[in-house]
Amino acid sequence: MRWARHAVPAAVAALAALAARDLLQREHALRRNFPVLGRARYLLESIGPELRQYIVAGNNEERPFTRDQRRWVYASAKQENNYFGFGTDNDIEYTAGYPIIKHRTFGRTVPPSIPTMGHDVRLPVAKVLGAARGRARAFRPESVVSISGMSFGSLSGRAVEALNRGAALAGCLHNTGEGGVSPYHRNGGELILQIGTAYFGCRDDRGRFDLARLKDVVAANPVRALEIKLSQGAKPSLGGLLPAAKVSAEIAETRGIPVGRDCVSPSRHAEFSDCDSLLDWVELLAAETGLPVGIKSAVGDLGFWTELADLMRDTDRGVDFVSVDGGEGGTGAAPMIFTDSVSLPFQQGFARVYPIFAERGLHEQVVFVGAGKLGLPDNAVVAFALGCDMLAVGREAMLAIGCIQAQKCHDDSCPTGVATQNAWLARGLDPTSKADRAAHYIKTLRRDLMKVAEACGVEHPGLIDADSVEILGGRTSSTPLREVYGYQPDWGLPSAADQKAIVDLMSTEAPQGGSAPPSRTARR
Ligand SMILES: Cc1cc2nc3c(=O)[nH]c(=O)nc-3n(C[C@H](O)[C@H](O)[C@H](O)COP(=O)(O)O)c2cc1C
Ligand code: SF4
Repeated sequence: MRWARHAVPAAVAALAALAARDLLQREHALRRNFPVLGRARYLLESIGPELRQYIVAGNNEERPFTRDQRRWVYASAKQENNYFGFGTDNDIEYTAGYPIIKHRTFGRTVPPSIPTMGHDVRLPVAKVLGAARGRARAFRPESVVSISGMSFGSLSGRAVEALNRGAALAGCLHNTGEGGVSPYHRNGGELILQIGTAYFGCRDDRGRFDLARLKDVVAANPVRALEIKLSQGAKPSLGGLLPAAKVSAEIAETRGIPVGRDCVSPSRHAEFSDCDSLLDWVELLAAETGLPVGIKSAVGDLGFWTELADLMRDTDRGVDFVSVDGGEGGTGAAPMIFTDSVSLPFQQGFARVYPIFAERGLHEQVVFVGAGKLGLPDNAVVAFALGCDMLAVGREAMLAIGCIQAQKCHDDSCPTGVATQNAWLARGLDPTSKADRAAHYIKTLRRDLMKVAEACGVEHPGLIDADSVEILGGRTSSTPLREVYGYQPDWGLPSAADQKAIVDLMSTEAPQGGSAPPSRTARR
Protein backbone atom coordinates (compact mmCIF):
# COMPACT_ATOMS: atom_id res chain seq x y z
CA MET A 1 0.00 0.00 0.00
CA ARG A 2 2.92 2.30 -0.70
CA TRP A 3 0.91 4.14 -3.37
CA ALA A 4 -1.73 5.13 -0.80
CA ARG A 5 0.90 6.96 1.25
CA HIS A 6 1.36 9.35 -1.69
CA ALA A 7 -2.14 9.30 -3.17
CA VAL A 8 -4.03 10.33 -0.05
CA PRO A 9 -2.02 13.52 0.68
CA ALA A 10 -2.17 14.38 -3.05
CA ALA A 11 -5.97 14.03 -3.08
CA VAL A 12 -6.29 16.12 0.10
CA ALA A 13 -4.07 18.82 -1.42
CA ALA A 14 -6.13 18.84 -4.63
CA LEU A 15 -9.37 19.17 -2.64
CA ALA A 16 -7.89 21.99 -0.57
CA ALA A 17 -6.82 23.81 -3.75
CA LEU A 18 -10.31 23.36 -5.20
CA ALA A 19 -11.89 24.62 -1.98
CA ALA A 20 -9.61 27.69 -1.95
CA ARG A 21 -10.50 28.42 -5.55
CA ASP A 22 -14.23 28.13 -4.82
CA LEU A 23 -13.93 30.37 -1.76
CA LEU A 24 -12.08 33.08 -3.64
CA GLN A 25 -14.13 33.17 -6.87
CA ARG A 26 -17.09 35.58 -7.06
CA GLU A 27 -19.05 34.22 -9.98
CA HIS A 28 -21.00 31.41 -8.29
CA ALA A 29 -22.51 32.08 -4.86
CA LEU A 30 -23.20 28.38 -4.33
CA ARG A 31 -19.54 27.44 -4.74
CA ARG A 32 -18.44 30.40 -2.59
CA ASN A 33 -20.77 29.33 0.21
CA PHE A 34 -20.25 25.58 -0.12
CA PRO A 35 -16.75 25.05 -1.48
CA VAL A 36 -16.29 21.77 -3.41
CA LEU A 37 -19.71 20.44 -2.36
CA GLY A 38 -21.42 23.17 -4.38
CA ARG A 39 -19.85 21.74 -7.52
CA ALA A 40 -21.93 18.59 -7.19
CA ARG A 41 -24.98 20.60 -8.17
CA TYR A 42 -23.44 21.59 -11.51
CA LEU A 43 -22.36 18.03 -12.14
CA LEU A 44 -25.82 16.69 -11.34
CA GLU A 45 -27.44 19.36 -13.50
CA SER A 46 -25.25 18.47 -16.45
CA ILE A 47 -26.00 14.74 -16.25
CA GLY A 48 -29.62 15.23 -15.12
CA PRO A 49 -31.23 14.11 -18.39
CA GLU A 50 -29.23 10.88 -18.43
CA LEU A 51 -29.86 10.23 -14.72
CA ARG A 52 -33.58 10.78 -15.09
CA GLN A 53 -33.67 8.65 -18.19
CA TYR A 54 -31.92 5.62 -16.76
CA ILE A 55 -32.80 5.72 -13.08
CA VAL A 56 -35.71 7.93 -12.15
CA ALA A 57 -38.16 8.26 -15.05
CA GLY A 58 -41.22 6.05 -15.43
CA ASN A 59 -42.25 4.46 -18.74
CA ASN A 60 -44.46 7.35 -19.77
CA GLU A 61 -42.44 10.21 -18.45
CA GLU A 62 -39.65 12.09 -20.19
CA ARG A 63 -40.14 14.45 -23.07
CA PRO A 64 -40.09 14.85 -26.00
CA PHE A 65 -40.21 11.06 -26.21
CA THR A 66 -41.21 8.83 -23.32
CA ARG A 67 -39.20 5.79 -22.37
CA ASP A 68 -41.84 3.51 -23.92
CA GLN A 69 -41.80 5.45 -27.17
CA ARG A 70 -38.03 5.32 -27.36
CA ARG A 71 -38.00 1.67 -26.47
CA TRP A 72 -40.39 0.98 -29.33
CA VAL A 73 -38.18 2.88 -31.79
CA TYR A 74 -34.95 1.26 -30.55
CA ALA A 75 -36.39 -2.25 -30.62
CA SER A 76 -37.93 -1.71 -34.06
CA ALA A 77 -34.63 -0.34 -35.40
CA LYS A 78 -32.73 -3.36 -34.09
CA GLN A 79 -35.43 -5.78 -35.24
CA GLU A 80 -35.82 -6.90 -31.65
CA ASN A 81 -39.07 -7.75 -29.89
CA ASN A 82 -40.94 -4.41 -29.81
CA TYR A 83 -44.03 -5.76 -28.08
CA PHE A 84 -45.19 -4.67 -24.62
CA GLY A 85 -46.42 -7.15 -22.02
CA PHE A 86 -49.33 -7.23 -19.56
CA GLY A 87 -51.44 -4.52 -21.23
CA THR A 88 -51.15 -0.78 -21.53
CA ASP A 89 -49.55 1.27 -18.79
CA ASN A 90 -50.96 4.47 -20.29
CA ASP A 91 -53.60 6.16 -18.16
CA ILE A 92 -56.33 5.68 -20.76
CA GLU A 93 -59.24 6.14 -18.39
CA TYR A 94 -58.24 9.51 -17.07
CA THR A 95 -56.23 11.16 -19.86
CA ALA A 96 -58.23 13.76 -21.78
CA GLY A 97 -57.23 14.01 -25.43
CA TYR A 98 -56.19 10.36 -25.68
CA PRO A 99 -56.98 9.02 -29.19
CA ILE A 100 -58.68 5.66 -29.59
CA ILE A 101 -58.75 3.89 -32.94
CA LYS A 102 -61.97 2.03 -33.70
CA HIS A 103 -61.40 -1.37 -35.29
CA ARG A 104 -64.09 -3.06 -37.38
CA THR A 105 -65.26 -6.62 -36.87
CA PHE A 106 -65.65 -7.26 -40.59
CA GLY A 107 -63.74 -5.45 -43.28
CA ARG A 108 -62.76 -5.49 -46.93
CA THR A 109 -59.33 -6.95 -46.20
CA VAL A 110 -58.37 -10.32 -44.75
CA PRO A 111 -54.96 -9.72 -43.24
CA PRO A 112 -52.58 -12.58 -42.60
CA SER A 113 -52.65 -13.80 -39.00
CA ILE A 114 -48.89 -13.59 -38.33
CA PRO A 115 -48.39 -10.13 -36.81
CA THR A 116 -44.92 -9.66 -38.26
CA MET A 117 -46.14 -10.37 -41.78
CA GLY A 118 -46.01 -7.33 -44.01
CA HIS A 119 -42.67 -5.97 -42.82
CA ASP A 120 -41.54 -5.62 -46.41
CA VAL A 121 -44.85 -4.61 -47.90
CA ARG A 122 -44.82 -1.56 -50.18
CA LEU A 123 -46.81 1.31 -48.74
CA PRO A 124 -46.93 4.04 -51.38
CA VAL A 125 -48.67 7.37 -50.99
CA ALA A 126 -52.33 7.39 -52.06
CA LYS A 127 -51.90 10.45 -54.29
CA VAL A 128 -49.54 11.15 -57.20
CA LEU A 129 -47.34 14.07 -56.23
CA GLY A 130 -47.55 16.82 -58.85
CA ALA A 131 -50.23 15.10 -60.95
CA ALA A 132 -53.01 17.59 -60.22
CA ARG A 133 -50.95 20.45 -61.67
CA GLY A 134 -49.49 18.35 -64.48
CA ARG A 135 -45.85 18.64 -63.43
CA ALA A 136 -43.47 16.99 -65.90
CA ARG A 137 -41.85 14.90 -63.18
CA ALA A 138 -44.94 14.01 -61.15
CA PHE A 139 -44.58 10.70 -59.31
CA ARG A 140 -46.15 8.53 -56.65
CA PRO A 141 -43.83 8.44 -53.59
CA GLU A 142 -43.02 4.82 -52.80
CA SER A 143 -43.41 5.26 -49.06
CA VAL A 144 -45.94 7.06 -46.86
CA VAL A 145 -43.09 7.53 -44.38
CA SER A 146 -40.27 9.91 -45.32
CA ILE A 147 -37.29 11.32 -43.45
CA SER A 148 -37.87 14.92 -42.43
CA GLY A 149 -35.49 17.79 -43.27
CA MET A 150 -32.47 17.90 -40.96
CA SER A 151 -29.50 19.58 -42.58
CA PHE A 152 -25.87 18.58 -42.78
CA GLY A 153 -24.55 21.05 -40.25
CA SER A 154 -27.16 20.38 -37.61
CA LEU A 155 -26.49 16.64 -38.09
CA SER A 156 -23.06 15.10 -38.57
CA GLY A 157 -22.05 13.88 -42.00
CA ARG A 158 -22.15 10.30 -40.75
CA ALA A 159 -25.69 10.73 -39.42
CA VAL A 160 -26.84 12.17 -42.75
CA GLU A 161 -25.14 9.30 -44.56
CA ALA A 162 -26.83 6.72 -42.29
CA LEU A 163 -30.23 8.31 -42.91
CA ASN A 164 -29.70 8.54 -46.65
CA ARG A 165 -28.57 4.92 -46.94
CA GLY A 166 -31.47 3.94 -44.68
CA ALA A 167 -33.86 5.82 -46.97
CA ALA A 168 -32.49 3.90 -49.94
CA LEU A 169 -32.92 0.57 -48.14
CA ALA A 170 -36.46 1.41 -47.04
CA GLY A 171 -37.40 3.03 -50.38
CA CYS A 172 -38.43 6.31 -48.83
CA LEU A 173 -37.71 9.95 -49.59
CA HIS A 174 -35.06 11.85 -47.63
CA ASN A 175 -35.51 15.61 -47.17
CA THR A 176 -32.17 17.45 -47.24
CA GLY A 177 -33.10 20.14 -44.72
CA GLU A 178 -32.11 23.69 -45.47
CA GLY A 179 -28.33 23.11 -45.68
CA GLY A 180 -28.24 21.93 -49.30
CA VAL A 181 -27.16 18.59 -50.81
CA SER A 182 -23.94 17.36 -49.17
CA PRO A 183 -21.78 14.41 -50.23
CA TYR A 184 -23.47 12.49 -47.40
CA HIS A 185 -26.82 12.85 -49.15
CA ARG A 186 -25.48 10.97 -52.16
CA ASN A 187 -25.72 7.41 -50.90
CA GLY A 188 -28.67 6.13 -52.87
CA GLY A 189 -31.64 7.68 -51.09
CA GLU A 190 -33.91 9.87 -53.22
CA LEU A 191 -34.21 13.45 -52.10
CA ILE A 192 -36.64 16.23 -51.45
CA LEU A 193 -34.47 19.32 -51.79
CA GLN A 194 -35.41 21.91 -49.23
CA ILE A 195 -34.93 25.57 -50.12
CA GLY A 196 -34.61 27.71 -47.01
CA THR A 197 -34.40 31.46 -46.55
CA ALA A 198 -30.62 31.51 -47.07
CA TYR A 199 -30.86 29.48 -50.31
CA PHE A 200 -27.97 27.27 -49.20
CA GLY A 201 -26.69 25.16 -52.05
CA CYS A 202 -28.49 27.27 -54.66
CA ARG A 203 -27.21 30.80 -54.03
CA ASP A 204 -24.69 33.10 -55.63
CA ASP A 205 -21.67 34.72 -53.98
CA ARG A 206 -23.85 37.51 -52.58
CA GLY A 207 -26.32 35.10 -51.00
CA ARG A 208 -29.06 35.66 -53.62
CA PHE A 209 -31.10 32.75 -55.00
CA ASP A 210 -29.44 31.37 -58.13
CA LEU A 211 -31.79 29.45 -60.46
CA ALA A 212 -28.97 28.11 -62.64
CA ARG A 213 -27.26 26.66 -59.57
CA LEU A 214 -30.50 25.07 -58.42
CA LYS A 215 -30.94 23.41 -61.81
CA ASP A 216 -27.36 22.10 -61.67
CA VAL A 217 -27.97 20.60 -58.21
CA VAL A 218 -31.23 19.03 -59.39
CA ALA A 219 -29.54 17.60 -62.48
CA ALA A 220 -26.63 16.15 -60.50
CA ASN A 221 -28.62 14.47 -57.72
CA PRO A 222 -31.67 12.20 -57.31
CA VAL A 223 -33.94 15.12 -56.39
CA ARG A 224 -37.64 14.20 -56.78
CA ALA A 225 -39.30 17.31 -55.34
CA LEU A 226 -38.57 20.81 -54.05
CA GLU A 227 -39.77 22.06 -50.68
CA ILE A 228 -39.78 25.78 -49.93
CA LYS A 229 -39.29 26.15 -46.22
CA LEU A 230 -41.43 28.97 -44.84
CA SER A 231 -41.12 27.96 -41.22
CA GLN A 232 -40.41 25.13 -38.84
CA GLY A 233 -42.63 24.21 -35.88
CA ALA A 234 -39.88 24.54 -33.29
CA LYS A 235 -38.83 28.05 -34.32
CA PRO A 236 -41.23 29.76 -36.73
CA SER A 237 -40.31 33.19 -38.08
CA LEU A 238 -36.85 32.91 -36.62
CA GLY A 239 -33.65 32.99 -38.60
CA GLY A 240 -30.71 30.79 -37.71
CA LEU A 241 -27.01 31.11 -37.07
CA LEU A 242 -24.35 28.51 -37.62
CA PRO A 243 -21.37 29.87 -35.67
CA ALA A 244 -18.07 30.38 -37.54
CA ALA A 245 -16.41 27.55 -35.61
CA LYS A 246 -18.87 25.05 -37.11
CA VAL A 247 -18.50 26.29 -40.67
CA SER A 248 -16.02 23.67 -41.86
CA ALA A 249 -14.74 23.54 -45.43
CA GLU A 250 -17.21 20.74 -46.16
CA ILE A 251 -20.21 22.66 -44.81
CA ALA A 252 -19.06 25.81 -46.62
CA GLU A 253 -18.80 23.89 -49.90
CA THR A 254 -22.25 22.31 -49.47
CA ARG A 255 -23.97 25.54 -48.54
CA GLY A 256 -22.09 27.83 -50.91
CA ILE A 257 -20.73 30.09 -48.17
CA PRO A 258 -17.25 31.20 -47.01
CA VAL A 259 -15.33 28.96 -44.57
CA GLY A 260 -14.95 29.99 -40.92
CA ARG A 261 -17.44 32.89 -40.95
CA ASP A 262 -20.76 33.05 -39.09
CA CYS A 263 -23.49 31.68 -41.35
CA VAL A 264 -26.80 33.50 -40.97
CA SER A 265 -30.22 32.31 -42.20
CA PRO A 266 -32.66 35.22 -42.42
CA SER A 267 -36.16 34.87 -40.99
CA ARG A 268 -37.92 35.58 -44.32
CA HIS A 269 -37.38 34.81 -48.01
CA ALA A 270 -36.06 37.47 -50.40
CA GLU A 271 -37.63 35.90 -53.52
CA PHE A 272 -41.25 36.55 -52.51
CA SER A 273 -43.07 38.69 -50.01
CA ASP A 274 -46.69 37.53 -50.12
CA CYS A 275 -48.84 34.61 -51.29
CA ASP A 276 -49.13 36.03 -54.79
CA SER A 277 -45.38 36.28 -55.34
CA LEU A 278 -44.87 32.94 -53.54
CA LEU A 279 -47.16 31.21 -56.06
CA ASP A 280 -45.34 32.88 -58.96
CA TRP A 281 -42.08 31.51 -57.58
CA VAL A 282 -43.55 28.03 -57.09
CA GLU A 283 -44.67 27.98 -60.72
CA LEU A 284 -41.27 29.25 -61.90
CA LEU A 285 -39.40 26.51 -60.01
CA ALA A 286 -41.82 23.84 -61.25
CA ALA A 287 -41.57 25.01 -64.85
CA GLU A 288 -37.77 25.24 -64.78
CA THR A 289 -37.15 21.87 -63.10
CA GLY A 290 -40.28 19.88 -63.94
CA LEU A 291 -40.41 18.85 -60.27
CA PRO A 292 -43.37 19.00 -57.90
CA VAL A 293 -42.97 21.98 -55.57
CA GLY A 294 -44.37 22.34 -52.07
CA ILE A 295 -44.12 24.44 -48.94
CA LYS A 296 -43.28 23.58 -45.35
CA SER A 297 -44.77 25.66 -42.61
CA ALA A 298 -45.82 25.73 -39.01
CA VAL A 299 -49.33 27.00 -38.25
CA GLY A 300 -49.99 30.26 -36.47
CA ASP A 301 -52.20 33.03 -37.87
CA LEU A 302 -54.51 31.54 -40.53
CA GLY A 303 -54.51 34.61 -42.83
CA PHE A 304 -51.63 33.20 -44.85
CA TRP A 305 -53.44 29.91 -45.48
CA THR A 306 -56.77 31.43 -46.53
CA GLU A 307 -55.05 33.85 -48.90
CA LEU A 308 -52.96 31.03 -50.39
CA ALA A 309 -55.98 28.77 -50.89
CA ASP A 310 -58.09 31.62 -52.34
CA LEU A 311 -55.37 32.33 -54.88
CA MET A 312 -55.02 28.65 -55.74
CA ARG A 313 -58.77 28.43 -56.32
CA ASP A 314 -59.00 31.66 -58.32
CA THR A 315 -55.82 31.55 -60.41
CA ASP A 316 -54.04 28.82 -62.31
CA ARG A 317 -51.21 28.47 -59.80
CA GLY A 318 -50.68 26.20 -56.84
CA VAL A 319 -48.41 24.21 -54.59
CA ASP A 320 -48.21 20.44 -55.13
CA PHE A 321 -47.75 19.63 -51.49
CA VAL A 322 -48.14 21.24 -48.11
CA SER A 323 -45.98 20.07 -45.19
CA VAL A 324 -47.44 21.08 -41.85
CA ASP A 325 -44.93 21.02 -39.02
CA GLY A 326 -46.19 20.93 -35.42
CA GLY A 327 -45.01 23.26 -32.69
CA GLU A 328 -43.86 20.18 -30.77
CA GLY A 329 -41.35 19.49 -33.54
CA GLY A 330 -37.60 19.36 -33.13
CA THR A 331 -34.71 21.62 -33.99
CA GLY A 332 -30.95 21.62 -33.74
CA ALA A 333 -31.12 24.77 -31.60
CA ALA A 334 -33.71 27.46 -30.79
CA PRO A 335 -34.69 29.82 -27.98
CA MET A 336 -36.96 28.26 -25.35
CA ILE A 337 -39.85 30.65 -25.93
CA PHE A 338 -40.02 29.50 -29.57
CA THR A 339 -39.69 25.76 -28.94
CA ASP A 340 -42.20 25.90 -26.08
CA SER A 341 -44.78 28.46 -27.12
CA VAL A 342 -44.77 29.66 -30.74
CA SER A 343 -47.02 27.87 -33.32
CA LEU A 344 -49.76 25.29 -32.86
CA PRO A 345 -49.11 21.62 -32.12
CA PHE A 346 -49.48 19.37 -35.17
CA GLN A 347 -52.99 18.04 -34.61
CA GLN A 348 -54.59 21.40 -34.05
CA GLY A 349 -52.52 23.18 -36.69
CA PHE A 350 -53.21 20.59 -39.37
CA ALA A 351 -56.92 20.40 -38.53
CA ARG A 352 -57.18 24.15 -39.16
CA VAL A 353 -55.22 24.18 -42.42
CA TYR A 354 -56.80 21.14 -44.11
CA PRO A 355 -60.38 22.53 -43.96
CA ILE A 356 -59.22 25.77 -45.59
CA PHE A 357 -58.20 23.77 -48.67
CA ALA A 358 -61.18 21.42 -48.41
CA GLU A 359 -63.74 24.25 -48.26
CA ARG A 360 -62.33 25.49 -51.59
CA GLY A 361 -62.37 22.02 -53.17
CA LEU A 362 -58.57 21.82 -53.26
CA HIS A 363 -57.93 19.03 -50.73
CA GLU A 364 -57.85 16.24 -53.29
CA GLN A 365 -55.31 18.08 -55.45
CA VAL A 366 -52.73 18.70 -52.74
CA VAL A 367 -50.52 16.09 -51.08
CA PHE A 368 -50.54 16.77 -47.34
CA VAL A 369 -47.40 15.94 -45.38
CA GLY A 370 -47.36 16.01 -41.59
CA ALA A 371 -44.54 16.28 -39.05
CA GLY A 372 -44.38 16.53 -35.28
CA LYS A 373 -43.84 13.23 -33.46
CA LEU A 374 -45.67 11.39 -36.23
CA GLY A 375 -43.05 8.66 -36.33
CA LEU A 376 -45.05 6.93 -33.59
CA PRO A 377 -47.90 4.77 -34.91
CA ASP A 378 -50.70 6.21 -32.75
CA ASN A 379 -49.91 9.81 -33.70
CA ALA A 380 -49.48 8.76 -37.32
CA VAL A 381 -52.92 7.15 -37.49
CA VAL A 382 -54.59 10.33 -36.21
CA ALA A 383 -52.64 12.30 -38.83
CA PHE A 384 -53.91 10.02 -41.62
CA ALA A 385 -57.46 10.27 -40.30
CA LEU A 386 -57.19 14.07 -40.45
CA GLY A 387 -56.11 13.96 -44.11
CA CYS A 388 -52.35 13.50 -44.14
CA ASP A 389 -51.05 11.58 -47.13
CA MET A 390 -47.44 11.27 -46.05
CA LEU A 391 -45.43 11.55 -42.82
CA ALA A 392 -42.06 13.20 -42.31
CA VAL A 393 -40.18 11.77 -39.33
CA GLY A 394 -37.26 13.63 -37.81
CA ARG A 395 -36.20 12.84 -34.27
CA GLU A 396 -37.62 9.31 -34.33
CA ALA A 397 -35.24 8.59 -37.22
CA MET A 398 -32.45 10.11 -35.10
CA LEU A 399 -33.40 7.76 -32.26
CA ALA A 400 -33.24 4.86 -34.69
CA ILE A 401 -29.62 5.69 -35.57
CA GLY A 402 -28.51 5.98 -31.96
CA CYS A 403 -29.75 9.28 -30.43
CA ILE A 404 -30.33 8.81 -26.69
CA GLN A 405 -32.29 12.04 -26.20
CA ALA A 406 -29.44 13.66 -24.28
CA GLN A 407 -30.73 17.01 -25.67
CA LYS A 408 -27.30 18.48 -26.36
CA CYS A 409 -27.88 18.97 -30.09
CA HIS A 410 -27.32 22.73 -29.71
CA ASP A 411 -23.84 22.71 -28.15
CA ASP A 412 -21.93 20.37 -30.45
CA SER A 413 -21.35 17.81 -27.72
CA CYS A 414 -23.80 15.12 -28.87
CA PRO A 415 -22.50 11.97 -27.19
CA THR A 416 -23.74 9.64 -29.93
CA GLY A 417 -22.28 11.53 -32.89
CA VAL A 418 -25.70 12.25 -34.41
CA ALA A 419 -25.94 16.03 -34.00
CA THR A 420 -22.37 17.27 -33.88
CA GLN A 421 -19.56 18.45 -36.11
CA ASN A 422 -16.98 17.20 -33.61
CA ALA A 423 -15.04 14.61 -35.62
CA TRP A 424 -14.13 12.54 -32.57
CA LEU A 425 -17.74 12.25 -31.39
CA ALA A 426 -19.05 11.60 -34.90
CA ARG A 427 -16.45 8.83 -35.35
CA GLY A 428 -18.51 6.60 -33.04
CA LEU A 429 -21.46 6.48 -35.45
CA ASP A 430 -21.11 3.72 -38.02
CA PRO A 431 -23.21 4.78 -41.05
CA THR A 432 -23.56 1.27 -42.45
CA SER A 433 -25.04 -0.44 -39.41
CA LYS A 434 -27.09 2.63 -38.52
CA ALA A 435 -28.50 2.72 -42.05
CA ASP A 436 -29.91 -0.76 -41.43
CA ARG A 437 -31.45 0.48 -38.21
CA ALA A 438 -33.06 3.48 -39.89
CA ALA A 439 -34.51 1.19 -42.56
CA HIS A 440 -35.82 -1.37 -40.05
CA TYR A 441 -37.49 1.38 -38.06
CA ILE A 442 -39.19 2.84 -41.14
CA LYS A 443 -40.34 -0.57 -42.32
CA THR A 444 -41.71 -1.43 -38.89
CA LEU A 445 -43.62 1.84 -38.72
CA ARG A 446 -45.10 1.14 -42.14
CA ARG A 447 -45.98 -2.40 -41.09
CA ASP A 448 -47.75 -1.18 -37.95
CA LEU A 449 -49.67 1.40 -39.98
CA MET A 450 -50.72 -1.33 -42.38
CA LYS A 451 -51.85 -3.53 -39.48
CA VAL A 452 -53.96 -0.71 -38.06
CA ALA A 453 -55.48 -0.02 -41.48
CA GLU A 454 -56.44 -3.67 -41.72
CA ALA A 455 -57.93 -3.55 -38.22
CA CYS A 456 -60.05 -0.63 -39.40
CA GLY A 457 -61.13 -2.70 -42.40
CA VAL A 458 -59.35 -0.70 -45.12
CA GLU A 459 -56.47 -1.44 -47.47
CA HIS A 460 -54.21 1.52 -46.71
CA PRO A 461 -53.68 3.95 -43.80
CA GLY A 462 -54.66 6.84 -46.09
CA LEU A 463 -58.15 5.35 -46.17
CA ILE A 464 -58.61 5.53 -42.39
CA ASP A 465 -61.20 8.26 -41.99
CA ALA A 466 -62.01 10.72 -39.24
CA ASP A 467 -64.86 8.47 -38.02
CA SER A 468 -62.37 5.74 -37.15
CA VAL A 469 -60.81 7.72 -34.31
CA GLU A 470 -62.35 9.05 -31.10
CA ILE A 471 -60.76 11.43 -28.66
CA LEU A 472 -61.34 10.54 -25.03
CA GLY A 473 -62.47 13.28 -22.70
CA GLY A 474 -61.56 11.29 -19.61
CA ARG A 475 -63.26 8.22 -18.12
CA THR A 476 -66.84 8.87 -19.18
CA SER A 477 -66.86 10.76 -22.46
CA SER A 478 -65.35 10.75 -25.91
CA THR A 479 -65.91 12.61 -29.18
CA PRO A 480 -65.39 11.38 -32.75
CA LEU A 481 -62.37 13.05 -34.35
CA ARG A 482 -64.64 14.33 -37.14
CA GLU A 483 -66.73 16.20 -34.59
CA VAL A 484 -63.75 17.52 -32.62
CA TYR A 485 -62.47 19.34 -35.69
CA GLY A 486 -65.76 19.88 -37.58
CA TYR A 487 -64.74 17.78 -40.60
CA GLN A 488 -67.31 17.27 -43.41
CA PRO A 489 -68.11 13.64 -44.42
CA ASP A 490 -65.68 13.42 -47.37
CA TRP A 491 -62.81 15.28 -45.74
CA GLY A 492 -59.61 13.51 -44.82
CA LEU A 493 -59.69 11.04 -47.72
CA PRO A 494 -58.20 11.07 -51.23
CA SER A 495 -60.48 11.50 -54.27
CA ALA A 496 -62.62 8.53 -55.38
CA ALA A 497 -60.21 7.91 -58.28
CA ASP A 498 -57.16 8.00 -56.01
CA GLN A 499 -58.89 5.68 -53.55
CA LYS A 500 -59.57 3.16 -56.29
CA ALA A 501 -56.00 3.39 -57.57
CA ILE A 502 -54.45 2.78 -54.14
CA VAL A 503 -56.86 -0.08 -53.38
CA ASP A 504 -55.88 -1.72 -56.70
CA LEU A 505 -52.20 -1.23 -55.89
CA MET A 506 -52.49 -2.61 -52.38
CA SER A 507 -54.59 -5.57 -53.48
CA THR A 508 -51.67 -6.80 -55.54
CA GLU A 509 -49.08 -5.83 -52.90
CA ALA A 510 -50.33 -6.63 -49.40
CA PRO A 511 -50.21 -10.26 -48.30
CA GLN A 512 -53.69 -11.68 -47.78
CA GLY A 513 -54.44 -14.33 -45.21
CA GLY A 514 -57.22 -15.64 -43.05
CA SER A 515 -57.70 -18.77 -41.01
CA ALA A 516 -58.36 -22.29 -42.26
CA PRO A 517 -60.93 -22.53 -45.10
CA PRO A 518 -64.57 -22.21 -43.93
CA SER A 519 -66.33 -25.41 -42.88
CA ARG A 520 -69.15 -26.83 -45.01
CA THR A 521 -71.80 -25.43 -42.69
CA ALA A 522 -70.54 -21.86 -42.84
CA ARG A 523 -72.90 -19.31 -44.46
CA ARG A 524 -70.90 -17.03 -46.79
C1 LIG B 1 -31.56 18.36 -35.44
C2 LIG B 1 -32.72 18.86 -36.23
C3 LIG B 1 -32.50 19.63 -37.35
C4 LIG B 1 -33.58 20.10 -38.11
N1 LIG B 1 -33.35 20.83 -39.25
C5 LIG B 1 -34.39 21.22 -40.02
C6 LIG B 1 -34.18 21.87 -41.27
O1 LIG B 1 -33.05 22.07 -41.73
N2 LIG B 1 -35.28 22.23 -41.97
C7 LIG B 1 -36.55 21.99 -41.53
O2 LIG B 1 -37.50 22.33 -42.22
N3 LIG B 1 -36.77 21.36 -40.38
C8 LIG B 1 -35.72 20.96 -39.61
N4 LIG B 1 -35.96 20.26 -38.47
C9 LIG B 1 -37.37 19.93 -38.10
C10 LIG B 1 -37.76 18.53 -38.60
O3 LIG B 1 -37.62 18.44 -39.99
C11 LIG B 1 -39.21 18.16 -38.25
O4 LIG B 1 -40.07 19.02 -38.96
C12 LIG B 1 -39.55 18.28 -36.78
O5 LIG B 1 -38.50 17.82 -35.97
C13 LIG B 1 -40.81 17.47 -36.44
O6 LIG B 1 -40.63 16.11 -36.67
P1 LIG B 1 -40.26 15.06 -35.49
O7 LIG B 1 -41.18 15.35 -34.36
O8 LIG B 1 -40.48 13.73 -36.12
O9 LIG B 1 -38.85 15.31 -35.12
C14 LIG B 1 -34.89 19.80 -37.69
C15 LIG B 1 -35.10 19.02 -36.56
C16 LIG B 1 -34.04 18.55 -35.82
C17 LIG B 1 -34.30 17.70 -34.62
S1 SF4 C 1 -28.07 12.09 -28.44
FE1 SF4 C 1 -27.29 13.73 -29.73
S2 SF4 C 1 -28.86 14.01 -31.25
FE2 SF4 C 1 -29.78 12.91 -29.59
S3 SF4 C 1 -30.70 14.50 -28.31
FE3 SF4 C 1 -28.65 14.05 -27.53
S4 SF4 C 1 -27.38 15.57 -28.48
FE4 SF4 C 1 -29.25 15.52 -29.66
